Amino acid sequence: MQVRRLSFPIGAEVTGLDITRPLSGADREELVRHWHEHLILLFRGQPLTPQQHIAFTRNFGEADTHEANPDFRLPGYPEAIEVTNRTVHGKPSATREVGRAWHSDMEHTILPLKGSLLWCGELPGVGGDTMFANMYEAYESLSPGMRAMLESLEAEHDVIASFSDKYVAPDPAHVARLRLTAPPVAHPVLRVHPETGRKSLFLSERVRRFIGFTDAESAPLLRYLCEHATQPEFVYRHQWQLHDALLWDNRCVIHQALADYDRSQVRYMRRTSIVGEPCGRPAPQAAA
Ligand code: SIN
Repeated sequence: MQVRRLSFPIGAEVTGLDITRPLSGADREELVRHWHEHLILLFRGQPLTPQQHIAFTRNFGEADTHEANPDFRLPGYPEAIEVTNRTVHGKPSATREVGRAWHSDMEHTILPLKGSLLWCGELPGVGGDTMFANMYEAYESLSPGMRAMLESLEAEHDVIASFSDKYVAPDPAHVARLRLTAPPVAHPVLRVHPETGRKSLFLSERVRRFIGFTDAESAPLLRYLCEHATQPEFVYRHQWQLHDALLWDNRCVIHQALADYDRSQVRYMRRTSIVGEPCGRPAPQAAA
């Protein structure tokens, strides 16, 4: 196995490993070490079947069955979802705009996902990139004063908060359904990674406000922190190749899928995820 950094802030490419086959215990342990060091791992040229994709995911924990998004599942495989602009039964796919805002997968729940593995099955001629930001760097580069202030803050994560015209016009029926099935949750703004012990910033464009603060009071600091975290120096932009598989750690990385491609061409991705550790609590009533 060889490992080569993809960028200065985040990511590494792993070569010399066929992930379509079961891993040895030693390879698995080595991969986990590289994952913790680089936060995202890229494996190129892996023609993964859904079964192989799910089996590889299980090296890193329990595969999630996407109970919150049953419509996104790959038929016959509850552990896999499709993220695509392909039409499904003659209709536009419900997943065609998934991931447009900066986010961490299922951060708006009390069981945010540990990691995700995205595989590229079909690509437009150019574009359809995904960006990843290193949230350890985002935290460690703040001033001591700001770090101390954030220590006691919690933030309200709400999946609907990121549905703005900035990325995609919200569909009122979808928003109403999410309001019932995915109520907002409160998470500490700083999160300690359970395996590396490193502290990171845990927020994104899915945060609506700080707990105990009004939206207006929260907005300037939220905007500052999101812009700080996603500055180019902390970001890796992945240009997909066919049969790339990319694993990221949702506990210390946020990501965003870009709409930077010709929408008449097909982009087809398959994603699995790893069940995370329970954290956070239902969000209390907003401050008046
Ligand atoms: C996601 O946010 O899980 C999808 C990312 C992508 O399609 O690039």
